[in-house]
Amino acid sequence: PSPADHVIVVFGATGDLARRKLLPGLFHLAKAGLMPQRYRIVGSAPAAEALGDDAFRAHAREAVAEFGRSRPEGPEWQQFESALSFGAADADAAEPLVNAVREAERAVGGSPRRLFHLAVPPVAFTSMVELLGATGLARGARVIVEKPFGTDLASARALNAAIHAVFDESRVFRIDHFLGKEAVDNILALRFANGLFEPLWNRDHISHVQIDVPEQIDIQGRAHFFEGTGTFRDMIVTHLFQLLGFVAMEPPVTFDAQALRDEQVKVFRSMRPLDPAHVVRGQYTGYRAEPGVDPASDTETFAALRVEIDNWRWAGVPFHLRSGKALAQGRHVVTLGLREPVLGMFPLDARAAASGRGNELVIDFADPGSVTARFLVKEPGPSMQLAEAEMVFGYRGSFTADNSLEGYEHLLLEAMLGDQSFFTRSDGIERLWEVSAPLLESPAPVEPYAPGTWGPDRIDALVAPYRWHLPDAH
Ligand code: BG6
Repeated sequence: PSPADHVIVVFGATGDLARRKLLPGLFHLAKAGLMPQRYRIVGSAPAAEALGDDAFRAHAREAVAEFGRSRPEGPEWQQFESALSFGAADADAAEPLVNAVREAERAVGGSPRRLFHLAVPPVAFTSMVELLGATGLARGARVIVEKPFGTDLASARALNAAIHAVFDESRVFRIDHFLGKEAVDNILALRFANGLFEPLWNRDHISHVQIDVPEQIDIQGRAHFFEGTGTFRDMIVTHLFQLLGFVAMEPPVTFDAQALRDEQVKVFRSMRPLDPAHVVRGQYTGYRAEPGVDPASDTETFAALRVEIDNWRWAGVPFHLRSGKALAQGRHVVTLGLREPVLGMFPLDARAAASGRGNELVIDFADPGSVTARFLVKEPGPSMQLAEAEMVFGYRGSFTADNSLEGYEHLLLEAMLGDQSFFTRSDGIERLWEVSAPLLESPAPVEPYAPGTWGPDRIDALVAPYRWHLPDAH
């Protein structure tokens, strides 16, 4: 299905996210023929950062040239560019925006859908939403809200209340771009479209789960954002917990947004409130010397933790989560460790014995994504000795047409289509803050780690008797 005609308004159009993801993503959708037949995109920002239409088009061209998948040229680019305009908006002066939206609607004709994307820092969310209510722009519109959604339970509740005063929940799209990644959505296909995996997907067969998203990049000059956020809020409460919802959920009764999100929220409700003793907060050495960082900063650039899910399927199975900046590798990996057979009858070769890993299912969700099953086989030769082997499905090379969309591209399209399946719901978000409260209220001090490592020393003790599956020896 293709989306109805739209006027899309991007708040924060001059910001980092718009430059890196939103403008290039929208252009990619246009190139792929996935935009509505008729649309306009209105950029917006406070008057102090306002651009004219031409300057905004030039800004978009540079953004696409730097971060896009294809060059901003040719008739497709010209068509896209001609759909761009700009309208400044401050809380007390929104006229330029209102005029720009009206004009865009006239240009599209008929009664196009309005879609607002709030790519602004959390402190600006509420006043933007109020502005949309007060000007009448919100009428019939949908809104995409960026993460982090609040900083704790109280602020998330306040934010939800402010949003619901203007937008019904059915029109709110809280974006978490991990849920738009092909290989993350494939977790649902893997589990619920096959008889092969799901029967094993429980505490009887799985001993532990790891969701590991180390990043090699440091904070890349984003001190202002990062100091007030930290890895726990930036990555764990948002991306990694959402992912955990997909890995751990029960089969939904149907595959629609409500059923899917009901199951996800049930997982969150079953999560035991975090025990600060099972959390390692780390900070890379040198972080405090970054420009804009408080020399005594206690902000974590790394977090590793154990999550327990108190339900029938997962009781007793630890979920280990890790993410951090300036680590040894940039990876996106979910590993399910399977229990050993009840009896070890065969000698292992040296490597298999040393790895101590046994069977595992590894979902690598870095684009383009892969799934690997690791198991033991008989080594060729006269004796019954075992060696490690694997079976791999890789997106690259498995499909001839590359129709894949990146997280933001996929989710922008879903928002235009009005499908909330891969967006987070207010009750789920509030529950995640509730689960996080013990840690937020009494955070352990940060532990230092050297850039280029896998985090502070204590992370190994956190997962004992298991071990981190990264770095992988394979
Ligand atoms: C963003 C975080 O949401 O996700 C960044 O704010 C992080 O700090 C990024 O680097 C990671 O996204 P991806 O898709 O590159 O893994």
